[in-house]
Amino acid sequence: MLNKPKCIGILGGGQLARMSAMAAKRMGFDIAILEKEAGSPAGQLTSIEITGSSSDKKLLKKLASLSDVITLENEFIDYRIVEYLESLGKKVFPSSVTISLIQDKLIQKQTLRKYNIPLPKFIAAEHKADFDKIVKFLGLPFVLKSRKMGYDGYGNALVKDKNGYIKAFDKLTHRHSKLLAEEFVHFTKELAVMAARTKKETCVYPVVETIQKNHICHTVIAPAELNKNILARARKIALDCVKAVKGFGLYGVEMFYTKDGRILVNEMAPRPHNSGHYTIEGCVTSQFENHVRAVLGLPLGSTEMVNPAAVMINLLGKTNGTGEVKNYKKAISDKDIHLHVYGKKSSRIGRKMGHITVTGKETKVILNKAIAAEKKTVI
Ligand SMILES: Nc1ncnc2c1ncn2[C@@H]1O[C@H](COP(=O)(O)OP(=O)(O)OP(=O)(O)O)[C@@H](O)[C@H]1O
Ligand SMILES: [Mg+2]
Repeated sequence: MLNKPKCIGILGGGQLARMSAMAAKRMGFDIAILEKEAGSPAGQLTSIEITGSSSDKKLLKKLASLSDVITLENEFIDYRIVEYLESLGKKVFPSSVTISLIQDKLIQKQTLRKYNIPLPKFIAAEHKADFDKIVKFLGLPFVLKSRKMGYDGYGNALVKDKNGYIKAFDKLTHRHSKLLAEEFVHFTKELAVMAARTKKETCVYPVVETIQKNHICHTVIAPAELNKNILARARKIALDCVKAVKGFGLYGVEMFYTKDGRILVNEMAPRPHNSGHYTIEGCVTSQFENHVRAVLGLPLGSTEMVNPAAVMINLLGKTNGTGEVKNYKKAISDKDIHLHVYGKKSSRIGRKMGHITVTGKETKVILNKAIAAEKKTVI
């Protein structure tokens, strides 16, 4: 009789789960997906698809019974769900302890500060009347942020004056109850670093530069063009962050590089990250493969780049349509383009539908190729 392959359960079936599933399948592992509806980007790749709510204990029990380990597509899940899975004897990456240190941005920052990780100045913003106290501490402008559930910039507001504070406070508390305020960082570049950790070892990917448009990660340049000492510092900070939250598995750490040469951590995510998609073609081992290896407690693979440079550009929906690429021939007319399409059932303007990666010798050349390909691709 054949041995049953190890199975990784994933809470969520979006593009991060899909690319993790591809890496897992390639290595001979199975994937079980729990997602609201059938046919999700990751659900399409496996026969072990459970559909329904991730807070339904019956479904969680089923997922646990089918999986050797469980991982999450995003950290916005109630940590009690993770605790429940752990109470069934399953290892979950990230653990309920890590989730409870990361999910609330204020607790995350307080945790990182305890480990002397450099951060922008921050303070809880509890009341509308706190404006003067905040300005005294941070100056103006400052950034008001939802402590929970922020993504793609939803949940952030730039505050320039008292009136703006009151408006932003009302808007953000309307979505989620608690807020924090953070100094406005005059950064010259935004950076991100992926790192993986098992009980036995750690690995860190090259530092990349991320360029956001409308608060959404748009372009990633690997490696970031900065001097060696700064890059080494950023890599060390990333690993320190993972250790600070008692993290095992794969993590993405977002950072600011300031005009005066400081690196400040913006936030971290306990999962594969948009800034690491370039690793599929750009590195010896992709972030998704190292994610799979880490959650299964296997040896980690090399994070070295296979080419001197890589550029990734997100394909955001340009139409409200079917989610398919309308013009494949044009999209991949340049021989160096790697096209990734996530298989979402419909596209919306601005929705992450796929991405393009180009690797090569010179950043400028591949960046121009990626920009041209993104322009041509209609999805
Ligand atoms: N303190 C700050 N100073 C200057 N710019 C900031 C600050 N905080 C956030 N930003 C800008 O807003 C972007 C989104 O912020 P942040 O990462 O906190 O939000 P998020 O909603 O968690 O976003 P995402 O899901 O895209 O990571 C950052 O990448 C950066 O460009
Ligand atoms: Mg962010």
